[in-house]
Amino acid sequence: MALFPGIRKFFHQRFNEELRFFKGWMDNTKAVGAILPTSSITARSMASVINPGSGLPVLELGPGTGVITRAILQRGVKPESLYSIEYSDDFVDHLRAEFPQVHVLHGDAFDLDTVLGDDRGLKFDAVISAVPLLNFPMARRVALIEDLLKRMPAGRPVVQITYGPISPVRTGDGNFSVKHHDFVLRNAPPANLWIYRRGD
Ligand SMILES: C[S@@+](CC[C@H](N)C(=O)[O-])C[C@H]1O[C@@H](n2cnc3c(N)ncnc32)[C@H](O)[C@@H]1O
Repeated sequence: MALFPGIRKFFHQRFNEELRFFKGWMDNTKAVGAILPTSSITARSMASVINPGSGLPVLELGPGTGVITRAILQRGVKPESLYSIEYSDDFVDHLRAEFPQVHVLHGDAFDLDTVLGDDRGLKFDAVISAVPLLNFPMARRVALIEDLLKRMPAGRPVVQITYGPISPVRTGDGNFSVKHHDFVLRNAPPANLWIYRRGD
């Protein structure tokens, strides 16, 4: 039946993605932060904060194997309007092959001026972040959120995935508001999504 090759392809792709992700985790447990890729439900919830009609590009931090990248494109963002910053060279090679028109930039999300280069002056509609913030000291977390918000119009969101019950940064830690966006049980481990905004 025609259905079976499609199902086989889906599971083959999914298995390959999980294997690639697990290998990335084995290579650098601290940077990757999770054992399995984000679920498509979580990825869609994160991408839902984007306004594809804004005409502004979108910034993604820590794309890994590209689950959230795919959800951002499905939200209606043009590939050439998406800037995805990834630290691991293995993931970067895979992302560039799978999303040739996306700006997949190899580097450190905590050093955006260097990674973005000539595009450092861009304003972004939204930031979708999967970097494991909890692995960094509080001062660096706050500095990252402040840096991201400077690159966006007032009121636009930074959405961050985390696996603990509380946000990695709290209201009062910096010049931004903190709001719970979603709790997704169908994610391994279950995920909390947080939104940071300025001028809210
Ligand atoms: C928890 S994984 C998430 C991967 C993918 N977005 C997903 O949701 O399945 C974190 C990702 O962030 C990347 N990463 C960690 N620290 C980073 C940094 N400072 N700059 C850029 N990427 C980073 C890791 O290499 C990894 O791909």
